[in-house]
Amino acid sequence: MKKITILVLALSAFLYSNDIDGKEVFKTYCWGCHHETAEAFGPSFSEIANNRSKDEIRAYIIDPKAMYEAFGYKRTVMTEFNLSDKELDAVTNYILLQKGK
Ligand code: HEC
Repeated sequence: MKKITILVLALSAFLYSNDIDGKEVFKTYCWGCHHETAEAFGPSFSEIANNRSKDEIRAYIIDPKAMYEAFGYKRTVMTEFNLSDKELDAVTNYILLQKGK
């Protein structure tokens, strides 16, 4: 019985820790400046997904100041975030889901 309890706890901890929704991350941190398919203050997620690789998108979110020149911008006004790896992955995947839209 004890083993089963531990197993259930471990399983729910595992499921919970993976339960970060990219859309939620987007709505919490990005929505003020980016929209899914419409141009806002920043480019739309669909435009980003159509032009950039997963690694490029991740790198930009981690450190816009280090990346903006390589992306062809003269300056950056994007906020720097301290996202966890899981939040970063979730929101990157969410951007990539907008590809082709
Ligand atoms: C304060 C407004 C603002 C917020 C908040 C913001 N961005 Fe941006 N983002 C911009 C602007 C403006 C650009 C265009 C270049 C620049 O200024 O850095 C940009 C550029 C980007 C790019 C590169 C675009 C390209 O050319 O491919 C990515 C990727 C990106 N943002 C992702 C995100 C994600 C993900 C979030 C939320 C976690 C976010 N941004 C939050 C304003 C913002």
